[in-house]
Amino acid sequence: MSESVEVERLVKVYGSLRAVDTIDFTVRSGEVFSFLGPNGAGKSTTVEILEGLRRRTSGSVRVLGEDPWSSLDRIKRRIGVVPQDFHFFPTITPREGLRLYARLFDRRVDPDELLARVELLDKADARYDSLSGGQHQKVGVALALVNDPEICFLDEPTTGLDPRARRSVWEVIRRLRKEGRTVFLTTHYLDEAQQLSDRIAIIKRGKLIATGAPDELIAVFGRPARLRIVGEAALADRLRERGHAVTPDNGGLEVELRSKAEAVEILDAVASSGLRWQSFSTKSDTLEDVFIRLVGGARDEGNGPSVAEARP
Ligand SMILES: Nc1ncnc2c1ncn2[C@@H]1O[C@H](COP(=O)(O)OP(=O)(O)O)[C@@H](O)[C@H]1O
Ligand SMILES: [Mg+2]
Repeated sequence: MSESVEVERLVKVYGSLRAVDTIDFTVRSGEVFSFLGPNGAGKSTTVEILEGLRRRTSGSVRVLGEDPWSSLDRIKRRIGVVPQDFHFFPTITPREGLRLYARLFDRRVDPDELLARVELLDKADARYDSLSGGQHQKVGVALALVNDPEICFLDEPTTGLDPRARRSVWEVIRRLRKEGRTVFLTTHYLDEAQQLSDRIAIIKRGKLIATGAPDELIAVFGRPARLRIVGEAALADRLRERGHAVTPDNGGLEVELRSKAEAVEILDAVASSGLRWQSFSTKSDTLEDVFIRLVGGARDEGNGPSVAEARP
């Protein structure tokens, strides 16, 4: 089978809130698929429906060919889950935790081999509460690997980690992919999605607003490449006269490039204008530019529980 996850017209309603609002996507076997969106967008709700932990309101969901809600007993042996804000028993060591999970799942595992795979062997006998945030996530991944899962669901595994710890979790994710596992990752970090993912779905207020490989998203939603020139202001008019699309850009000007040949033509016009110029460079949109254009740069949807609602 080439598709690990198939979602059609999925809806999840909490009271009057449509937390997931009619979304469709597929995750291919062996890929890293990232669900990218601000806080409150509906990422965890979707993941937990895929994991069989939450019941959907409507729509259809297939994980490894089965409905995770009605086939939870079978599905949970084939998936690995690291929930958002993963925590474990404070006094238990990673080696003890792995033995415990192996017994719960009725699996024979070598705890040291699993810890080596997440680069945590040196902490095998350290209490969980003595480990760093990045090490906690690695314990989570090692525990999720006990049942040798075909898909790993990682819900914001790097939120709140320092840059070095994030990179070391990225290495673990890359290794999962190399081992042939499918990885379903949620994140609100653009660099992370861009670096790790084969494909990305961008979710905003419960709706998918774009899906594709990072390069495809940039090609479809990004602006055309631009040539930036720093020089005399009169250059702008000279280039406009020749039919180029020119916009001022702090201290310089930007010219949209409709083709590679156009860049040469523009530089030629600049050189023969007799006007002064200091420098030029080319600019292309990154995934971050695309995300900001599509989502509006928000880290937060702002529709989470208010202070009043959160009171016990
Ligand atoms: N159990 C719940 N009951 C009511 N509202 C919920 C519940 N879980 C999540 N929500 C709301 O649904 C929306 C989506 O939440 P969530 O899926 O956790 O988003 P994300 O993981 O993208 O931050 C938010 O507005 C959140 O407050
Ligand atoms: Mg979440």
